[in-house]
Amino acid sequence: MKSIPISIGVDVGTSSLKALAVAPDGTVVASASVEYNFDSPQAGWAQTDPEIWWRATCEVLGRLTAHTLVRDKSIQALGLAGQMHGLVLVDAENQPVRPALMWNDQRTAPQCARAEREITADQVWKWTGNRLLPGTTAPKWLWLKEHEPESIRRTRRIMLPKDYIRLRLTGTSHTDVADASGTLFFDCQHRRWSREMCDALSIDSSLLPEVFESSVASAKVHAAGAAATGLPEGTPIVAGAGDQAAQAVGTGIVREGQVACTVGTSGVIFAATNHWRPTPGGVLHSFCHAIPDRWHLMGVTLSAGGSLRWWRDVMCADLVATATARGIDPYELMLDEAQTAPAGCEGVVFLPYLSGERAPHADPHARGAFLGMSNPTTRAHLTRAVIEGVTCSLREVLAVVRRSGVQTERIRLSGGGARSSFWRQMMTDAFGVQTATVDQLDGAAYGAALLAGVGSGIWPDVDAATAHIVEANHASVGAGAAVFQLVARRYAAGYSALAPWFESGAG
Ligand code: XUL
Repeated sequence: MKSIPISIGVDVGTSSLKALAVAPDGTVVASASVEYNFDSPQAGWAQTDPEIWWRATCEVLGRLTAHTLVRDKSIQALGLAGQMHGLVLVDAENQPVRPALMWNDQRTAPQCARAEREITADQVWKWTGNRLLPGTTAPKWLWLKEHEPESIRRTRRIMLPKDYIRLRLTGTSHTDVADASGTLFFDCQHRRWSREMCDALSIDSSLLPEVFESSVASAKVHAAGAAATGLPEGTPIVAGAGDQAAQAVGTGIVREGQVACTVGTSGVIFAATNHWRPTPGGVLHSFCHAIPDRWHLMGVTLSAGGSLRWWRDVMCADLVATATARGIDPYELMLDEAQTAPAGCEGVVFLPYLSGERAPHADPHARGAFLGMSNPTTRAHLTRAVIEGVTCSLREVLAVVRRSGVQTERIRLSGGGARSSFWRQMMTDAFGVQTATVDQLDGAAYGAALLAGVGSGIWPDVDAATAHIVEANHASVGAGAAVFQLVARRYAAGYSALAPWFESGAG
């Protein structure tokens, strides 16, 4: 008898797609995931054929719905989370017009600079509460208008990455307030498309999806979506959220005073707020939270886990082979090796700007760099330097969050980076505050499942849905804090010295 209700969350990530099923007591019943890559046809570009996300969705949901622990349960609803700021264009037949431009694509620096002059940065801030940065959706539209007018001419709908999956599952074009915030043509204060920004960018409002609060069930899986994924036809789909807001729900960062640091492909400092309070000049993102009448501040370092993944792929093939043979995660071996190098890496510093940077330096020209190598430098030093560099970048973002008046006495760590006790202690020492994790580290898919549970009545609201989330792995600031001060100073000096060189285009 199919009696126990469950909700499903899907996260359309940058490097993988994950899905999981959650029971009413908050436990994860089953999960599945698949990895993929994106294309980088030129340095600083990042794009993907949305069909890759759809094929991954079919595979992952097919596995999940066939799972013995899911087959005998009753699926109440599904929630979508996904990488933010992407631009997916579809034509009159709902076919993608071109590969989707992604959040880590930096090609739009000239369009941002021009728009900040012509529309003016002040107006953009007034209308959206934010600053136009190359990763966001709005300048991608301007780039296409300039370089691919034919793609724009064929476009009948504009959507965000996870909403393309909704289109394939349900035939409808909807989005949610949290993900819409990252387009930069959304009025985050009033939680609706910004008519002024759309006019300034020449975006016809008929191209835009209808916007809902995150836990509203706005569409149902149609017959073709059901046949492709194994989901029952008619399964309600809630609006969902951009991955960062969903991650915050999944880790219980839902009200003022709660702050998280997430190390996924990108690294994010996320502070929930109960009121609309954009930061002057848009130095931090000020976006809608996935909860009605709540917002959040956020600073993003673009290549966090992404830097370590790059390092794994270019320099750690032997560790990957050993890990595969032993059936363990290669990052475990990489982190073990990194710990054999001393804190501070004997002067080696890594700047993690592989895709340019967004916060605290809004610098699309920045590039990755190892500095300070000498004869005794080993791979262990370099791996540790990658981890220290990413942590330094997050520490600098946190400093901006603190300057904006947010209290950060305690920080919840999540994402892949929080799996390692070594990296957790480094972040604790670097941030200078107590940290903890929560039991759910794949927070975005989990948060999407909680939003689906709220939309289908398993929980009355997001506060109730997140009440069961408990902290684990508490850590306090230790002896590493003093060394980290030095590392952070060296890191900051490294970027200051290289910034003019990046700017000159020499990099
Ligand atoms: C958030 C951001 C990234 C992407 C991919 O502003 O750009 O975190 O959402 O995860």
